[in-house]
Amino acid sequence: MCGIVGYIGLKQAYPILVKGLKRLEYRGYDSAGIALINGDTNIYKKKGKVSDLEEHVKNKNLSGTIGFGHTRWATHGEPNDTNAHPHVSEKGYFALIHNGIIENYAYLRKKLESRGYSFYSETDTEILVNLIEYIYLKGKVEPEMAVRMALSKVVGAYGLVISCKDAPDQLIAARRGSPLVIGIGDEEYFIASDATPIVEYTKSVIYLNNDNVAILKKNELTLKTIDDVPLSVTIKQLNLDIGEIEKNGYDHFMLKEIFEQPKSIHDTFRGRIAADLSEIKLGGLLDVMDRIEKAKRIIIIGCGTSWHAGLVGEYLLEEYARIPVEVEYGSEFRYRKPIIYEDDIVIAISQSGETADTLAAINLAKEQNALVLGICNVVGSSIPRETHAGVFTHAGPEIGVASTKAFTAQVTVLAMMAFLLSKKKGLINDEEYKALITELNDIPDKIEIILKNNDQFKKIAELYKDASNALYLGRGYFFPVALEGALKLKEISYIHAEGYPAAEMKHGPIALIDKNMPVFVIATKDRSYEKIVSNIQEVKARNGIVIAIVTEGDTIIKNLADHVLEVPAAEAALASLLAVVPLQLLSYHIAVMRGCNVDQPRNLAKSVTVE
Ligand code: G6P
Repeated sequence: MCGIVGYIGLKQAYPILVKGLKRLEYRGYDSAGIALINGDTNIYKKKGKVSDLEEHVKNKNLSGTIGFGHTRWATHGEPNDTNAHPHVSEKGYFALIHNGIIENYAYLRKKLESRGYSFYSETDTEILVNLIEYIYLKGKVEPEMAVRMALSKVVGAYGLVISCKDAPDQLIAARRGSPLVIGIGDEEYFIASDATPIVEYTKSVIYLNNDNVAILKKNELTLKTIDDVPLSVTIKQLNLDIGEIEKNGYDHFMLKEIFEQPKSIHDTFRGRIAADLSEIKLGGLLDVMDRIEKAKRIIIIGCGTSWHAGLVGEYLLEEYARIPVEVEYGSEFRYRKPIIYEDDIVIAISQSGETADTLAAINLAKEQNALVLGICNVVGSSIPRETHAGVFTHAGPEIGVASTKAFTAQVTVLAMMAFLLSKKKGLINDEEYKALITELNDIPDKIEIILKNNDQFKKIAELYKDASNALYLGRGYFFPVALEGALKLKEISYIHAEGYPAAEMKHGPIALIDKNMPVFVIATKDRSYEKIVSNIQEVKARNGIVIAIVTEGDTIIKNLADHVLEVPAAEAALASLLAVVPLQLLSYHIAVMRGCNVDQPRNLAKSVTVE
């Protein structure tokens, strides 16, 4: 959710912090603030974007070689200048930025109020910074000890950076639940919510684990637990290039990421399918393959787009591996007292690897001794560290808040798992296996063909950009694609959209259809082609507008629909990877034409680290 960046070293901190905040802005963008330490601590904060903060600090004192900054996604208290971070303790000893939620903040607030503290903001963060100050002054302890003692009283999640005016040469960082990465430079350290603000300065990083506290001076790093147990430092090397986190000439990250899909899908299967297309190898699952093969049930968990990929996974795994699959929202699974058997396989799908509800569901499944696998994109994130085994999607950084290439990469991994299990269980022969792998190998080229029709998608977008509602229909593998198409439209263009299994239209949404209602139907040639043709006729009979995604050369639907968008033919199991692309581009163009902020849609955040 919120983005955190910090610097301590020899350089001026401000340019590093502002650049870092811009890179992190996709995590939250309702306000931004910085603290610069230069003898005194100067704090500047502003409602709005990082650019509003930049405007606000013009002509201010921005010197200092130590500092930290924050982009906020509001949880407690509306987005305004006062609630923006950093927050400062009442007597001015500490300044704090925080990502996460302090769940017992109301209790702590009352306690502090009874001791004479009063508060200027509505945030849980202000409570925490004052709790630290209270302990510091009362206990006469070192700042880092006050931080640790306060954190031991906190229920909830945090990634935080804090400074103390009595220790002006150090920053303290701590983590529980919300991610923090430390970059190691030459007489300098960087701290951030993810590696994107760090990668242009250093590739050597340390990922903080839960309940870790780091005390940073420009040439000294001490790592310990909140219980004061010293920890050794494990340095990892980032496998990330600066080019991957820039727009590279595209107007938006989302457009860049849509166009990257031939490459990102290729990167997902590269090294995992044999050169002669005879075999799939998923190194991350090797040790647990026997257990997966014997599974009586698979439970897939995800949120948002990752949940949609999970639905495609259900269809793939049931069809090919013949293992019953249930797909669950992390938030529902964790609270509804689900039945989890020891021989269940749980697959958690997450682009960011940080989604709080997915993480909590993983922990629940682990407590019940299920084998938990992860399908994640961000290396070093929490979910791959919490799961027993897994597969990285290797789609490269996804920065647009609306997920695109992560979805196709997740489906690619699920397809590989399904085909591999099918072969291992003797459900398909060598020839069928090779045919499926060959189909998968052809997908990137087929997406290139779809992307060449971008101008056609733009024209259709122009026609329907003013719609107030839209319906998306699909059957089988295309039902999740219909859900994903509707999600893309509503999240970035704020048009109300619903995805439905095409046959279910008759049980409700058909009542909404009139001459103003665009209905996007995924109607490529597969086993339910005739049925979907009937559904299109039902829409047309009620004067609805049909925009159909069809297989190249289709003539039947061309005569029925208002518009057809062609995609190359593909095996049903993999066709979702193609059908989703026109829907992504249509949503993108509609949002741009409506003047929406495509990469940072209102109220949303890329990485949802709160429940
Ligand atoms: C947020 C993002 C979505 C994403 C979902 C799940 O809502 O805006 O794009 O699909 O979280 O995130 P995850 O990182 O777990 O895939």
